[in-house]
Amino acid sequence: MRGLILDEADGRVVASVREIAGGELPALPVRVRVIYSTLNFKDAMVVTGLGRIVRSYPHVPGVDLVGEVLEDESGSCKPGDLVVVTGFRMGEATWGGYAEEARVKPEWIVPLADGLSARQAMAIGTAGLTAMLALHSITDAGVAPGETPLLVTGASGGVGSIAVAIAHARGFAVAASTGKSNEHEYLRSLGANEIIDRSEFSESPSKPLEPARWCAAIEAVGGATLAKVISGTAANGVIASVGNASGNEFCASVLPFLLRGVRIHGIDSVQASLGARRRAWDDLSELLDARLLESITDEIGLDEVPDAAARILAGGVRGRLVVRVAGS
Ligand SMILES: NC(=O)c1ccc[n+]([C@@H]2O[C@H](COP(=O)([O-])OP(=O)(O)OC[C@H]3O[C@@H](n4cnc5c(N)ncnc54)[C@H](OP(=O)(O)O)[C@@H]3O)[C@@H](O)[C@H]2O)c1
Repeated sequence: MRGLILDEADGRVVASVREIAGGELPALPVRVRVIYSTLNFKDAMVVTGLGRIVRSYPHVPGVDLVGEVLEDESGSCKPGDLVVVTGFRMGEATWGGYAEEARVKPEWIVPLADGLSARQAMAIGTAGLTAMLALHSITDAGVAPGETPLLVTGASGGVGSIAVAIAHARGFAVAASTGKSNEHEYLRSLGANEIIDRSEFSESPSKPLEPARWCAAIEAVGGATLAKVISGTAANGVIASVGNASGNEFCASVLPFLLRGVRIHGIDSVQASLGARRRAWDDLSELLDARLLESITDEIGLDEVPDAAARILAGGVRGRLVVRVAGS
């Protein structure tokens, strides 16, 4: 089978597409014929060796996969079942979806949701699952659509694009923050009512409590942006903190928590429970229109992954990248 393999040489991580023997796969019970994978921000970090996420080489990346079960030594799945695996540190601590076959644990598997094709499932992938988990955390906490918009940061990215679309589909007015002046129309086509230039979030808040501009936020950027978002969140608002595209550290006042009851929810899609995943996949298949999903999706082959990874890390990719694995 063919796959994209990472090797480490002289402290550098080098990617190449080459033949892999079945015996090289991890000794896990479920053998899957991979059809598609995706390229997420974390995959881009893994492929370029950023952040030392992978500890052992050679390594096959790919934190997401959709495919057909070939055999299951545990007896949980039947050959022919179409399955989705995202997270659980697949593609980080074990080999992932960038090879024509993968071996996974049965407890990582969710069935491909009714109404989704294999390609659509990967157009959603970890990014879409994360956006849905974030929206669930906001609505489960009692924040409902009203006049004050829900803010999405990093809006033209993978998490952001799906967050805009599903928040709009759930009835929220959506404010989308982007650094890409050429993607305003794109974001409006997904359901954004208002576009905010990313530069508004790059500086520290002028006051601990700025005017309350959003009822909730799906925040993919981290760093100073998160501090700014906290200061502008309305009373009893919820910020779903999903990402760190611009950095990890932030400096903020506690006053929005004490005087407005603002809450921050951390979203971890990697270890999300199977129940939370099934609920999210069911809602995603219902909320995402097929044509809209296609409009945010580009498809690449395994050999195009290294270049695309560099583009993601430079903030230059719009929407989602599906990776064609079968027959690559
Ligand atoms: N918590 C979880 O389980 C989970 C799951 C998936 C992803 N994530 C994280 O969520 C974040 C977004 O992931 P993604 O897949 O959507 O990545 P992505 O497709 O690369 O999107 C990130 C977006 O953030 C904005 N951005 C990039 N660099 C920036 C910078 N220096 N300052 C401000 N904005 C910047 C850009 O959007 P604009 O140009 O539109 O501003 C970019 O398109 C990443 O940090 C990723 O690690 C977390």
